[in-house]
Amino acid sequence: MDGQGQIVIEGVNHTYRPARGRAVPALSNVTLQVRPREFLALLGPSGCGKSTLLYLVGGFLPTEAGRILVEGKPVAAPGPDRGIVFQHFALFPWKTVRGNVLYGLERQGLPRAERDRRAQSFINLVGLRGFEESYPSQLSGGMKQRTAIARTLAFDPSILLMDEPFGALDAQTRSLMQTELLSIWQRTPKTVIFVTHDVQEAVYLAERVAVMSSRPGQIKAIVETKFEKRDPSILRAKEFVEKVDHIWNLVRDEAIKAQELSA
Ligand SMILES: Nc1ncnc2c1ncn2[C@@H]1O[C@H](COP(=O)(O)OP(=O)(O)OP(=O)(O)O)[C@@H](O)[C@H]1O
Ligand SMILES: [Mg+2]
Repeated sequence: MDGQGQIVIEGVNHTYRPARGRAVPALSNVTLQVRPREFLALLGPSGCGKSTLLYLVGGFLPTEAGRILVEGKPVAAPGPDRGIVFQHFALFPWKTVRGNVLYGLERQGLPRAERDRRAQSFINLVGLRGFEESYPSQLSGGMKQRTAIARTLAFDPSILLMDEPFGALDAQTRSLMQTELLSIWQRTPKTVIFVTHDVQEAVYLAERVAVMSSRPGQIKAIVETKFEKRDPSILRAKEFVEKVDHIWNLVRDEAIKAQELSA
């Protein structure tokens, strides 16, 4: 398998060793391949290591055991090929919405006018026109999240790592953002790993859904979820509903195990 955006994860473990308290094994022997241009959703109970796996692929945590290859090369650090939308927004509080979105573009050496144009077009895309000069502290949770999404999309990485990117959005905005994300993904060749707790969202957006086990997380199952996305009635189609039920049951079993472990 080769080509743009390919991700290979092999036998990856991760244990957090806080300065105080016990070591926490977060991931155990995770193996997963993401194909070039694939849209893969990652589901699993809270605390199973989904964010940890994205940090590893993003190069924000060192790979301790096993290996992670992006385009055939081991991941050593964050890079402009991988754009991450963090679960907790991670905006610069001292920069405005525009400043935050421009940040990723400033390192790309684009001419100023082109940077401004691009930043504005992604601010408009996420519905924040009129809030360009606002600071994160003046925004709602959903607006912060949309700013973080605009910032990552604006620099056009070939790999998108999205950690519950629509979690803070109301149902209508979420649906609009899903449509925008799918249309970007269909227009530009991007490989996406998309973490969500929403099974229907996962089945709707992704071509494959990977379900993780309770902590320490492993890949428990991979389910094909290719549907015709442009047809909104698909959400009510029998095969779609059955797929959602099937995956929901897999995730629920793991969530019950996770509760038993922490009890
Ligand atoms: N910095 C840290 N230090 C110690 N333990 C941590 C740290 N970050 C995460 N963990 C632990 O590692 C495990 C996996 O965490 P992670 O955030 O990857 O889970 P998650 O699947 O993203 O959960 P959620 O769905 O709630 O976002 C959890 O049990 C968590 O307590
Ligand atoms: Mg998480």
